[in-house]
Amino acid sequence: MAGVPNVPLNDGNSIPQLGFGVWQVPNNEVQAAVSEALQAGYRSIDTAQGYNNEEGVGRAIKDSGIGREELFITSKLRTRDQAYDKAIKSFHGSLEKLGLDYLDLFLIHWPVPGQDKYPEAWKAFVQLQKEGLIKSIGVSNFLPEHLERIIGETGVTPAVNQIEVHPEYQQRDVLDFHVKNRIAIESYSPLGSGAALKNPTIAEIAEKHGKSPAQAILRWHIQEGFIVIPKSTHPERIRANIDVFDFELDGEDLQRIAGLDRPDGKTGGHPATNNAIW
Ligand code: A2P
Repeated sequence: MAGVPNVPLNDGNSIPQLGFGVWQVPNNEVQAAVSEALQAGYRSIDTAQGYNNEEGVGRAIKDSGIGREELFITSKLRTRDQAYDKAIKSFHGSLEKLGLDYLDLFLIHWPVPGQDKYPEAWKAFVQLQKEGLIKSIGVSNFLPEHLERIIGETGVTPAVNQIEVHPEYQQRDVLDFHVKNRIAIESYSPLGSGAALKNPTIAEIAEKHGKSPAQAILRWHIQEGFIVIPKSTHPERIRANIDVFDFELDGEDLQRIAGLDRPDGKTGGHPATNNAIW
């Protein structure tokens, strides 16, 4: 199996372009899933405080025996801990649960504009990065207006914005902003939470290349230059989802997938209105 390429970030670090996501995997199942992923060759694992599974992820990392420097571990700050001091304390809680002494990437999970604390959280992230406790700092679910505000207040540009991207919700309108500011886009729900797998155009393209619909979609993310973090709890799917580096979609395939974008294709909450505190 061909290796996963690394994507350079704006802070001089780099991230594997394909990693393993664990949203909605319960703590008592996540260890097995992450162990399977590490055996299959994944080296980047994406968790969050809000997933309530950092301990299980930590156990899988420890049991793997893989050197810390070979791994790229991401977690995300829960929305109720965005005040400066709380963010610092909360981050240390993640390190403890994961059994690590630094994170490769820590993200503000949602801007929560209603609580207006995300710039404070960002200042805490900048401090933690200065202390060497987080290699790269970033955000998730941020709109250009939220990004502009934290860059304006600190002069520090996030390395990554993790947002919902898949063939039925391509976020073309925010791409330019990210390219101009050298913010890498990380696609979450890359398979549209499973829904995009049923799209007949995707099925045709997959068949043409002798691949599964999931592999065709993941290959699309790779060729579009996104970082991508598919989730599965099934060993055979975990292995198949990283096996996407031995074929290439052609111009016609990419054009057909571009045509699948829909304004109502979003499956998760909207950053402008999601003010959930947890
Ligand atoms: P499961 O964990 O049962 O495999 P997304 O990454 O967009 O959030 O989508 C994840 C969903 O897609 C999950 O429900 C996952 O279910 C399913 N899934 C992940 N990989 C595959 C695959 N290769 N084939 C079919 N379904 C998949």
